[in-house]
Amino acid sequence: MIAFMPEINLQRRCKRQAWAPEHRFFAVTAPGLEPLCAAELKALGVEQVEARAGGVGFAGKLGAMYLANLHLRTAGRVLLRLKDFRVRRWDDLLRQAAAVPWEVYIPAGAPLAVQATLRQSNLKHEGRVAEAVFEAVAKHLAGLGLEPPVLAKPADQSAQRLLVRGEDRRALISLDSSGPHLHKRGYRLAGGKAPLREDLAAALLLLCGYDGSLPLLDPLCGSGTLAIEAALMARRLAPGGERGFAFEAWPSFREKTWQHLKSKAKEASRDRAPAMILGQDRQNQAVRLARENALRAGVEGDVDFSRADFFAARPPAGPGLLVLNPPYGKRLGSVRQAQDLIIRLGKHLRKSFRGWDCGVVLYVPEWAGLLGLKEKARLSAPFGGLKVTLLYGAVTG
Ligand SMILES: C[S@@+](CC[C@H](N)C(=O)[O-])C[C@H]1O[C@@H](n2cnc3c(N)ncnc32)[C@H](O)[C@@H]1O
Repeated sequence: MIAFMPEINLQRRCKRQAWAPEHRFFAVTAPGLEPLCAAELKALGVEQVEARAGGVGFAGKLGAMYLANLHLRTAGRVLLRLKDFRVRRWDDLLRQAAAVPWEVYIPAGAPLAVQATLRQSNLKHEGRVAEAVFEAVAKHLAGLGLEPPVLAKPADQSAQRLLVRGEDRRALISLDSSGPHLHKRGYRLAGGKAPLREDLAAALLLLCGYDGSLPLLDPLCGSGTLAIEAALMARRLAPGGERGFAFEAWPSFREKTWQHLKSKAKEASRDRAPAMILGQDRQNQAVRLARENALRAGVEGDVDFSRADFFAARPPAGPGLLVLNPPYGKRLGSVRQAQDLIIRLGKHLRKSFRGWDCGVVLYVPEWAGLLGLKEKARLSAPFGGLKVTLLYGAVTG
């Protein structure tokens, strides 16, 4: 079917329905990272920032959502809240879903996935809810002479994704503005043996108050995630500057606004990291991978990756921040070996890195005691089926 609604009409609808109103948004984070993400949003100057379980709510015009996608380091995705309503009967869902101006958000004929999650909701059946919302979108677009969407699986990365959440007597319809998870910055293609997710790496650096002004060393760098995230921060480069987003396909998308935000972000960045950033690993293969990732991230001139055994190498000039993501038994080697390494690391830090600060990813929180750091902050977050502890402390004698 060919769209016959006049272009000018759609433009006017986009202006009135998408650009004129204030919207509510929700930046989804891994549980535990909410306060860090809230601080990031506040620093961006967006309004009504409110950390809740699993993410951070905020408000603003659509431009605030562009900004959040471009700059957030600790979020997984940014949702646009389309409807938040009370549900007494099934009809309430149909009525509310029919009232959304879908034509300004869902591209005609695009793949569209709808996921419903219900908790003690009187909507009862998740599959039926998803189906009903999909039908509402299709009917709405067809009624305007636009090609209806094509049903897609939630895993389809090219699809627009609607999320319906029903809890008790309320329901919420949201549209995912991000597309692929925001930790996918685009620089890491092959991941190495046990790579840290980019949002967790950024969270550890933020927890440690890293701003690029002091030397940073990751002596167990693997594929280089911590050092690369540090370089992006030190240069104030937007983590989303080199990737695409779902909202770029929306009929209401404003290319000019988006390019303006991206060039403003570039102007605010630094040409070079102000202090040294070092990544080391005892494996050649890891160092090669880290260098390739840094090149793709555009920070190859800011991070010095080299092959070295942490216990044999001379400590660099400091003090600064040492970041550690030691191997954990279940993914690399045995748990016993992992624990022995933490004990060795603790001894080495006390001997050679006194005066440095240290940020560490621990898979067993009790191991913090083995490192002997003077603790300053910690948080825990789920990662790879485990709960990891991000710990920030000072190395003392
Ligand atoms: C869990 S991985 C680090 C993953 C990394 N954060 C990433 O995102 O890819 C741990 C790394 O420590 C390295 N390693 C273990 N013992 C080391 C040592 N004594 N000196 C240097 N590197 C070591 C391993 O080769 C491995 O690449």
